[in-house]
Amino acid sequence: MSRIKDLQKRVHRELKDMEDYDKYARAMDHLHGVSLAAVIIAKRRGEDPELAAMAGLLHDVYAYKKGSYEDHAHLGSAYVRKLLEKAELTTPEETEIICSAIWHHSDKETVDSPMDEVLKDADVLHHTLDDPTKAVKEQERERYEHLCLELGMGV
Ligand SMILES: [Fe+2]
Ligand SMILES: [Fe+2]
Repeated sequence: MSRIKDLQKRVHRELKDMEDYDKYARAMDHLHGVSLAAVIIAKRRGEDPELAAMAGLLHDVYAYKKGSYEDHAHLGSAYVRKLLEKAELTTPEETEIICSAIWHHSDKETVDSPMDEVLKDADVLHHTLDDPTKAVKEQERERYEHLCLELGMGV
């Protein structure tokens, strides 16, 4: 089994006890959507698409599991570190890259490492394109417009 398939199964297991089915379905949609967007952006930028997929898949697991977004990037990074160490799928260096991306993913106004930026942009891409009829949030507009230029899409 591929590492991504293995992690997808683990994420399903992490979230399967969410009481509200609609919330569970939306959580899985977002995690899969960000994972796919992260692969596209990583390939475009010459970053590792497999690590990007893993970071996308795991980035909000903690928030969904706890039902709270309070400091979820930092708490989620620590949570995912434990999950990855238990899973024994990644090297320490890979774990570090994934956990760094999750740690920084709420810092949309600053620029961090290339993989941190892949995850932030993938998150924005899913927020904005999951329902393209919705207005783009003000705090995501600048990143979204840069992404449209980079990916050759109309705003
Ligand atoms: Fe998040
Ligand atoms: Fe997210």
